[in-house]
Amino acid sequence: MGYSLTLQSQDIHIRKHSNDMNSNSLVSIDDISRDEILDLIERARFFEEHPDQKILDGKVVATLFFEPSTRTRLSFETAVNRLGGRVIGFSDVSTTSSSKGETLKDTIKMVSNYVDLIIMRHYLEGAARYATEVTDVPVINAGDGANQHPSQTMLDLYSISKTQGRLDNLTITMVGDLKYGRTVHSLLMALRYFNPTFHFVACDELKMPKEYKEFCDANGLRYYEHTEFSQDVINQSDILYMTRVQRERFTDIMEYERVKNLYNLHASMLDDSKPNLRVLHPLPRVNEIAQDVDDNPKAYYFEQARNGLYARQAIICKALGIDIYKEAAV
Ligand code: CP
Repeated sequence: MGYSLTLQSQDIHIRKHSNDMNSNSLVSIDDISRDEILDLIERARFFEEHPDQKILDGKVVATLFFEPSTRTRLSFETAVNRLGGRVIGFSDVSTTSSSKGETLKDTIKMVSNYVDLIIMRHYLEGAARYATEVTDVPVINAGDGANQHPSQTMLDLYSISKTQGRLDNLTITMVGDLKYGRTVHSLLMALRYFNPTFHFVACDELKMPKEYKEFCDANGLRYYEHTEFSQDVINQSDILYMTRVQRERFTDIMEYERVKNLYNLHASMLDDSKPNLRVLHPLPRVNEIAQDVDDNPKAYYFEQARNGLYARQAIICKALGIDIYKEAAV
């Protein structure tokens, strides 16, 4: 019996958007204001300077990963550990009672009996929002299907701020799977406060969904769509945000085979790029960034992943209502 079928039939009323969430949760980047984003960036900077702070003493955090993860789960768990809290949870759903048919609602209600905070990744869009509707425990969305990945966005914004010295007036080029890539969806929405110019580079099958282009139109954001990954676009960019083609979201594997190798970045393509250009990627990568880029000073994706620890320390403290400037020992 597949747990996915069980969840989809019993939790069929999952919604992508709702207003009646519990208030300290982070479900969508759209839930937080410009000031809150800037405040979280400052707090991430604080944790980069002071990563070991025992301010979660007595707190228990659950990491519920219904989909695979390396960086998000391990950096969240490291963040809790470095802050002196404790972690319970699972990374293999087949070992849980979901595999016996327990619904997402019941799983969330059970875990809420044990913990102060739930961090959840789920393959269904809207699952994190739904979780906030069945518990009073704060929920952090660690990725819901192709929808949102707000903690990734915070580490992306922190990385952009660190490398560019600002968030405003930047040219951001997003390349690859813009249809299923939840990281680009969240990042696009967060950047609405900072007057970006976007270039979207994708084939017709994987182009930026209409709802996000409408979001750009509604917020007065400039964007240009390209099917060719041209030198001209690279040379205009301040940030080159590469993404993996998300094989797990395709229903037709032949379509995945057709599009999986369309966009590849090699080191020589950066030769005439702006000095401040940085290459970001949420990772994991498959073949969209060649290994020869790794040693280029404009490659920033491994540092970007490290920034995830600090950004997630800040997010966890915000969700738990902890004022780090009062509680931290510095
Ligand atoms: N960027 C990201 O979400 O990576 P993981 O899937 O490894 O968590």
